[in-house]
Parts: sequence; C-alpha cells; structure tokens
Amino acid sequence: MSSSGDQRDYAGLRLDRTGQAEAFDALGDRYHEAFPHKAGQVAATEWLIASLPAGSRVLDLGCGTGLPTARQLTRAGMEVVGVDLSAGMVALARAQVPGARFHCADIADLRPGGAHDLGRFDAVVAFFSLLMLPRAEIPLALRTVRHLLRPGGLFALSMVEADVDDFTIPFIGRTIRVSGYLRDDLREVVQAAGFGIVEESSYMYAPATADVQPEEQIFLRCRRSD
Ligand SMILES: C[S@@+](CC[C@H](N)C(=O)[O-])C[C@H]1O[C@@H](n2cnc3c(N)ncnc32)[C@H](O)[C@@H]1O
Repeated sequence: MSSSGDQRDYAGLRLDRTGQAEAFDALGDRYHEAFPHKAGQVAATEWLIASLPAGSRVLDLGCGTGLPTARQLTRAGMEVVGVDLSAGMVALARAQVPGARFHCADIADLRPGGAHDLGRFDAVVAFFSLLMLPRAEIPLALRTVRHLLRPGGLFALSMVEADVDDFTIPFIGRTIRVSGYLRDDLREVVQAAGFGIVEESSYMYAPATADVQPEEQIFLRCRRSD
C-alpha cells in the first residue's frame, strides 16, 4: 500500500480519542498496580534485544510509563524513542527513563505523510496500545509500523484476545474503549499488513484489581516481510 493510499484510508475515518488519553492521564503509576505481572512483555522485549545489535533504534509505541519496556531496552544499549497519546504517561516515562526520548503524539500522526516523522527504526514494540484503537484503524496502524521499520525490521506486538470493536469497558475507576480479535483473526490482520510471524506466546492474566476482567494476552514476535 502506498503512503497516499494510507492517507486516503485515514481521510475516510473520524478519529475519536474522547476519554482515551484522559483515562491514562488520571492513572499515573496506578496502571502498574492493576497490571503488575509483565513476564510476557519482558520476554518479548528480551527477544528483540537478543536479535538486535546494541545501538539499534527501537520505537515503543503507546509506551505508557516507560516501565518496564523503554527502560529494559535503554539498559540493553538501544536508542529508544517512545510515543504516547497521554501527556501524563509521557511525563512519567521521561522522569523514569531519562535515557530515552519521548513524544506525546497519536499513533495516527506517525503514518506516512502524517504530522510526526520520526525516521526509520530497527524494531518497534506495541504492547497493549493498538487495542486502544477501533478495528477500522488497527490495519492502518500496523501498516504505519511497517512503514516505520527498515526492511527486515522486527516488531513485537501484544493484544488481548477478544472479539470486540471499540467496546467500552470499566478501567480502574474510568472507562476506556478497546478492540481485539480472536487469535486466528489477529494473525491474519498482522500478516495482511506485511509481517511474518516468527513466534507466538500467550498468557492467561488476572489483573490485580476487581474492575478489570481476566484476559488472555497474546504476544506476536514478527518481522517485516519485504
Ligand atoms: C494499556 S496501556 C499500555 C502501556 C505500555 N505499552 C505498557 O505495556 O505498559 C496503552 C497505552 O496506549 C496509549 N495510547 C492509547 N491510544 C493511543 C494512540 N492513539 N496513540 C498513541 N498512544 C495511545 C495510552 O495512553 C496508554 O499509555
């Protein structure tokens, strides 16, 4: 898909972010109280680190507080850029991971010809951030990730397995809207966006707070197919 094609696809969409950044602004570090177990995320990041030379450029898309991922990557000697829609998350990430660079921006702004040009990356991680988009945008966001990667670049993605589109859920005293796919559909969407799936893992996860439902987390380790 050409970059002008991506622009046209976005032009037909109304990007509704109402309440999404505000929910995370209000959360601060309480996000980690609800989601304290990060084994899948840490292992997926470890795969990237083991696969890349030190000094590689890595983008953390929807980086949240910068923990654990931006810090893990920075400590491994990567050049890390984090992007998040929530100014509160970006402020925390800057304080907690001073060795990385953070931008308050929307994933949609990184598309070809969009408002932010961050250059190309050797790898991208998107842990539980693309699920904050409506389904109509997820393939576009995946194509943006592909565009941001050098040929053969690596991509670590996590999503929650759920057959929902822009679905309102309670989330630590607020509500947010989330989307997801059943596992086979997720694989298809990722492959159709131009990625090969190298490896997959999943975790049954019970968040540590009553107003967040138990969930099945899926981690895909991918490579940009050229
Ligand atoms: C569930 S949290 C995950 C944070 C982090 N990746 C982690 O795993 O700890 C989702 C993050 O995506 C961010 N986010 C939501 N919509 C976004 C968008 N359109 N563009 C960029 N970031 C977004 C939220 O502000 C939030 O920090």
